Amino acid sequence: ESRSRSLAANINSLDDIAEAAAGCTRCPLYRDATQVVMGEGRPGAAIMFVGEQPGDQEDLAGRPFVGPAGRLLNRALQDAGIERADTFVTNAVKHFKFEVRGKRRIHKSPNAGEIEHCRVWLDHERRLVRPKVTVALGASAARTLAGHPLAVGRNRGTPLTWADGSAGFLTVHPSALLRLADAEAKRAEYRHFVDDLAAVRTMIA
Ligand code: URA
Repeated sequence: ESRSRSLAANINSLDDIAEAAAGCTRCPLYRDATQVVMGEGRPGAAIMFVGEQPGDQEDLAGRPFVGPAGRLLNRALQDAGIERADTFVTNAVKHFKFEVRGKRRIHKSPNAGEIEHCRVWLDHERRLVRPKVTVALGASAARTLAGHPLAVGRNRGTPLTWADGSAGFLTVHPSALLRLADAEAKRAEYRHFVDDLAAVRTMIA
């Protein structure tokens, strides 16, 4: 505890956070994950996106949202007129949680305790990036930012205030769109997601 407090006192840059988080053992997820995956983007970004946790490809690459969900996010950002390079993209939980099925590593959602233990790293990222608006992608991000569970369906698409008083916004996680089987529903949900992102753009204008 005193070691982590003294580390925290010396965190003044994104590199400092990455260095401090690299050896994180605050929850058991470090044991099976390849590495910590920290946020990435412009330090003074107006928009911060918070996902759930790294996926299989992110765990291997050490970078957030580089797999299928990341490609969908990139396309939706482009369609909403937002440059990913102008944003900061991170996750509520920095280690990949999974179960092995055959040769595949299947994503498992982090529990409330894991989200809580990891919040310290997200807090440092938010303190240093200082976005104008922090966008939760899905329920895990909403939980950590709101400090309590928040239903995505009923709270998406309009400006919110997070627990720390900062400007917020909630929309779906791109992985939820990838899971939709029906092509028509998928198109409609994608359009809804892009509309939400376009609404975020008006919040920083
Ligand atoms: N899903 C997430 O929530 N985050 C990633 O970085 C990748 C997939």
